[in-house]
Amino acid sequence: MTGLIETGDGSATLFLDEYEQAMHSSSGAYEEAVLKHVIPSGILLKEKKELYVLDVGFGLGYNVLALVQLYSLSGSRFRLKIISLEKDKSFSFYMDSVVFNDERDSLYSIIKKGYSQGSVQWGDFSLSLIFGDARESLKQLKEYRFDAVFQDPFSPAKNPELWSVEYFELIARVMEHDAVLTTYSSADHVRKAMIEAGLVVGKGPAVGQKREGTLASPGNFVPVLEKDRLEKIRNNPKSEPYRDPELNLTREEIITNRLESISKKKN
Ligand SMILES: C[S@@+](CC[C@H](N)C(=O)[O-])C[C@H]1O[C@@H](n2cnc3c(N)ncnc32)[C@H](O)[C@@H]1O
Repeated sequence: MTGLIETGDGSATLFLDEYEQAMHSSSGAYEEAVLKHVIPSGILLKEKKELYVLDVGFGLGYNVLALVQLYSLSGSRFRLKIISLEKDKSFSFYMDSVVFNDERDSLYSIIKKGYSQGSVQWGDFSLSLIFGDARESLKQLKEYRFDAVFQDPFSPAKNPELWSVEYFELIARVMEHDAVLTTYSSADHVRKAMIEAGLVVGKGPAVGQKREGTLASPGNFVPVLEKDRLEKIRNNPKSEPYRDPELNLTREEIITNRLESISKKKN
């Protein structure tokens, strides 16, 4: 049933009936934000007056919280502009029950305000939410060039509209050449979708009980994949990616079309 669940590092995650899935790994929700997204994105090491971060799937806002917390601790004095894409406006009730019992609580109350008001600015940070289907929202961001992208929808099987070749083409278009996209998924068909969208794909860190994730960039800024893994991505019919040519298919259509393509390739 939809509701908060405690994870291994003491932070809560939200289970949603719609996806039959929790937002984070059971080993540690906040830990995942830090170790799968913020640190591997390299954003904390960048030296630019203004840094832009695209956060796909705001959820409980942990990726934003971890980014802001670590950025403040790093002593950087650059401006950090975060744009979060989120479909669901109903999470305030659950966010109000999230407590960390440390300095994150005061930062989190600002982030909660950003979610309920649509935007918030404090010190060197600003957060703007764009509500709606991320496939549509991304079309409004054509002029932006992000320095990091946190790709954090639900799993490809539950949330296929945010893992297709055409979706990653939209993402690739708004990334700086040296920007890094971070994600927890290491599925071959996801990696193939990224490659077809023009991104260089590499290994991301493994965290908790989860397998390695994936890092991707328009340039050569990610650790390379093993040759045999790349071969499998190229040649295995099961690596067929999701396709969504007009960026308007339903989840069921995207999944069914992929299965049909796989069976055609096998025959
Ligand atoms: C795994 S959760 C994100 C967790 C979040 N990054 C955090 O740090 O707490 C995935 C989020 O993606 C959102 N989402 C799913 N499909 C979407 C879509 N098509 N457009 C925008 N947001 C979507 C869900 O509502 C959910 O909040």
